[in-house]
Amino acid sequence: MSLQRLNEVRRSFLADLEAAGSDAEALEAVRVRYAGRRSGLLQELTAALRELPNGEKRDYGRALNELKKLVDSQLREAKRRTAAASAAGSRPMVDVTLPGRRPPRGAEHPVHLVRRRIETIFLRMGYSVEDGPEIEDDWHNFEALNLPPDHPARDDQDTFYLPGGSLLRTHTSPVQARVMEEYEPPIRIVVPGRVYRRDSDLRHSPMFHQLEGLVVDEGITFGHLKATLETFLKELFHGVEVRFRPSYFPFTEPSAEVDITCIFCGGKGCGVCSRSGWIEILGSGMVDPRVFEKLGVDAERYTGFAFGLGLDRVAMLLFGIPDLRLMFSGDQRVARQFA
Ligand code: PHE
Repeated sequence: MSLQRLNEVRRSFLADLEAAGSDAEALEAVRVRYAGRRSGLLQELTAALRELPNGEKRDYGRALNELKKLVDSQLREAKRRTAAASAAGSRPMVDVTLPGRRPPRGAEHPVHLVRRRIETIFLRMGYSVEDGPEIEDDWHNFEALNLPPDHPARDDQDTFYLPGGSLLRTHTSPVQARVMEEYEPPIRIVVPGRVYRRDSDLRHSPMFHQLEGLVVDEGITFGHLKATLETFLKELFHGVEVRFRPSYFPFTEPSAEVDITCIFCGGKGCGVCSRSGWIEILGSGMVDPRVFEKLGVDAERYTGFAFGLGLDRVAMLLFGIPDLRLMFSGDQRVARQFA
């Protein structure tokens, strides 16, 4: 045994290692052959140290240690490489020819669709779209609209009151009041929005949607109201007849409720229209001069008309949706049908 022998082992180790490449089994065989505890070559070379003449022990020992370090670090490095290679090999293959995963497609909610259709009709007639707060005060929701605190019509609108005296608006009409306070006529607006009443069944939800309309200018007559609403309704519900029935609202005088011929039976009478052939669709009227006075609009100079309708109801009619609560269930399958 000698330094020469160490060099031979060193060379053969490096050659064997290279031959094994990244084959885990071959590498293990190399490890056993050189660094094996029982009969590895390094073990044998270490044992040989004792047999050497004292003068050679130092150099031999030093070279042997070098060789041990080399074998150890090379084996470790090779092992790391094979592990990395096999991890990469087991990764699922990417098929770049597959079509990508499509993101789920959203859809507009039926109420939103109806809102935009109605807005489009009125925008073409020269109206603008306004909005207002859902948390209102008594003045705008009631008082300014000619509904004093003891007025019986307040009972029709079961109101959600909030601590501190504010309330959830029961209709979009308070926006009429806000616009008249703020702007000089001519006014031509529609106001879509959420409204709230303590009411819940097949046809009522505590939150629903209305669209308000208001026109104020010199010389506005009931004829303008009729022509506008007839044009609007015939455009929204193609081919219907429109009729006006006298009615009452505290903030309009005279007032009218407006019906269309039933879009399901064409006016013959069916379940939807309760055999009457007509479906009530909106409330309207000439702005009561007392409302003008409360809001600082010159009632001698100006007249106007207003109307309000339920967007949810229109959506149910147009799309044949049987239960109002379906629309607010958050069930995406409802909206998806309108994509
Ligand atoms: N605000 C009324 C309601 O909620 C509807 C309406 C609006 C009637 C404007 C007349 C004029 O029932």
